[in-house]
Amino acid sequence: MNILITGGAGFIGSHTYVVLKENGFNPIIVDNFSNSTIHVIQNLETICQSPVVYYQLDVNDPKTYNQVFKEHKIDGVIHFAASKAVGESVENPLKYYKNNVASTILLLEKMQEHNIKNLVFSSSCTVYGQPAELPVTEKSPVQVAISPYGNTKQMCEEIIADTTQASNDLKAISLRYFNPIGAHKSALIGELPLGPPANLIPFLTQSVAGLRGPLQVFGTDYPTLDGSAVRDYIHVCDLAEAHVKALQHLIDQKDTASYYDFFNIGTGDGTSVLQIIHAFEKTTGEKVNYELKPRRSGDITAVYAAIGKSKDVLGWQSKRSLEESLKDAWAWQKALL
Ligand code: WQD
Repeated sequence: MNILITGGAGFIGSHTYVVLKENGFNPIIVDNFSNSTIHVIQNLETICQSPVVYYQLDVNDPKTYNQVFKEHKIDGVIHFAASKAVGESVENPLKYYKNNVASTILLLEKMQEHNIKNLVFSSSCTVYGQPAELPVTEKSPVQVAISPYGNTKQMCEEIIADTTQASNDLKAISLRYFNPIGAHKSALIGELPLGPPANLIPFLTQSVAGLRGPLQVFGTDYPTLDGSAVRDYIHVCDLAEAHVKALQHLIDQKDTASYYDFFNIGTGDGTSVLQIIHAFEKTTGEKVNYELKPRRSGDITAVYAAIGKSKDVLGWQSKRSLEESLKDAWAWQKALL
């Protein structure tokens, strides 16, 4: 089966490409390389030992889909392509509404035009805001977004749900990611932030590699066990495997009419920033220099996933430990040096 991966040269997209190949699918990448490099394609060819079919095109351009859908019979789409920097979305909301929401509407229109029935959408636990109860289940209410980035994820979920509802054969799943970290065992692909990393793990590994100053720990006065904020850090390969499980689940719904659902994709464990630092030092033997700083605006105290629904419905759960994720993140950083 031919699977279109928009944003397939990105962090999660590239790891999902590998798992799709391993499971006998034929993935095709569309990426404008605004947040990636062509080396990812070369490294995917090394990992998979086969040529990568990719298009360096923009998901906001209708001609992109006209060309891809003319050249390939596509059986399903995994839609990763989006801007994802929370802070940038506050400064430049229109870029986010155009790149994240308008591109999803265009994709849905083109899927309808070409009778493509299966869609997996890259969503985020950010839709929950600060949940009232933890672990957060899919029944927890979606809260008013605290950033345009988060709002685009909520809007896209709703647009996909409504479009599925109105169609008689579209099948779609939104995957609500928690915090993806780590890298492929080969250390040939991994998280590649262009510019100073906003996310914790790439900043931490760049700091330990001597490429940045000390890690700034944003906030130690949260009501958590050690005062630093808590998140659910999931290995990117576990997350990639969840996409293939979700796609398979959609394909298995072939006899049903339209179908829409959404799932938490996390480990179910919450880990604080200070615990991450200590776990990284223990796992790698490296020293993390860090400074305690005030909270970062827009951050929540704690979030981690209830994972029963993904396990029961998709037959998926995370397999890799936090230590393995941190070890793989460090191996990837060292390979970049
Ligand atoms: C994690 C924790 C920070 C950097 C965001 C998006 C989410 C997804 C992942 C795209 C927080 C602390 C961080 C640093 C720190 N984005 N931190 N020093 O904010 O949980 O999630 O990125 O897919 O949708 O909301 O991730 O890695 O930025 O922060 O102390 O230099 O680490 O305050 O508590 P976050 P993060």
